[in-house]
Amino acid sequence: MTAAPLLEARSLSRHYAVSLGLFRAKGLVRALDGVSFSVAAGQTLACVGESGCGKSTLARQVTMIERPTGGSLCIDGDDVATADRKTLERLRPRVQMVFQNPFASLNPRKKVGTLLEEPLALNTELSAAARRDAALAMMARVGLKAEHYRRYPHMFSGGQRQRIAVARALMLHPRLVVADEPVSALDVSIQAQVLNLLMELQQELGIAYLFISHNLQVVRHIADRVMVMYLGKAVEYGPKGAVFERPAHPYTKALLASTPTLDARARRERVALKGELPSPLNPPSGCAFHTRCPYAIERCRAEVPALLPLGEVEVACHRAAELL
Ligand SMILES: Nc1ncnc2c1ncn2[C@@H]1O[C@H](COP(=O)(O)OP(=O)(O)OP(=O)(O)O)[C@@H](O)[C@H]1O
Ligand SMILES: [Mg+2]
Repeated sequence: MTAAPLLEARSLSRHYAVSLGLFRAKGLVRALDGVSFSVAAGQTLACVGESGCGKSTLARQVTMIERPTGGSLCIDGDDVATADRKTLERLRPRVQMVFQNPFASLNPRKKVGTLLEEPLALNTELSAAARRDAALAMMARVGLKAEHYRRYPHMFSGGQRQRIAVARALMLHPRLVVADEPVSALDVSIQAQVLNLLMELQQELGIAYLFISHNLQVVRHIADRVMVMYLGKAVEYGPKGAVFERPAHPYTKALLASTPTLDARARRERVALKGELPSPLNPPSGCAFHTRCPYAIERCRAEVPALLPLGEVEVACHRAAELL
């Protein structure tokens, strides 16, 4: 028997009604439009796509900052789309978040020790001494020194600040950490250090990650599974190896080609990504990617492709099988 996944989304949607101006009907932004995926305990799902494809919207649903407008999102078997307040309160500590910008996400007026102890003070009955011990233990675990306890965030480099943010996220022993572009604001040389830290912590503590990035190459080492998103929908979803070695969707191929790599296999096929992401208020008909896809045919303009199994992955493309 396989255990139920820690996180399971079925046709998850988050739509926003937006004003288009005086005397005009409201528009609907389908920021997240029917995605289904699951994350097992201790595993990493990477969610990848261009700016505006709905990654942070997904993060806001999973961290229970917002409520989905459609579908279900089960955390440990409880559906947060319909859960009552008490259930949400019980679930919230299990999911923590690491943001892109550690310069903005850490309160500059608070010392590192206070930042780390705050979640414990708010959510547990631990004594001040026990909170301090827990903070110091976590600092050691993420590679900070004991003397950093009394320092303010501005006294640290970007990489160190992100270590503080990771430590803070782990103080309540979450089962899942949602990391929204956690290394995008960091120097390339520092990115690998933070990624390695996240992977070590996963090994040690068995945490699951929903790792969000606009850069497919960044998730190459950390991901177990990858979900590629385009305008609120999953266009490819599958194990990392398959997605990187045999990308099935033209959009995935384009994302892989758009970042430099030394891997000859990945360079084999080049799909150039032309133009900008269309407006989610008025997405193209049929396959939303058809306006930028070099392989688009008439059917792609007319018919929305379903996400269907193809080999090891699931892919939403009318031509995926013939192009593989
Ligand atoms: N509260 C809101 N009201 C209206 N539209 C919204 C709202 N939040 C997000 N959107 C729209 O939903 C779409 C997806 O936004 P989201 O922030 O999830 O994208 P993203 O993939 O995280 O982008 P980025 O890589 O730039 O962070 C965008 O078109 C955005 O303008
Ligand atoms: Mg975002």
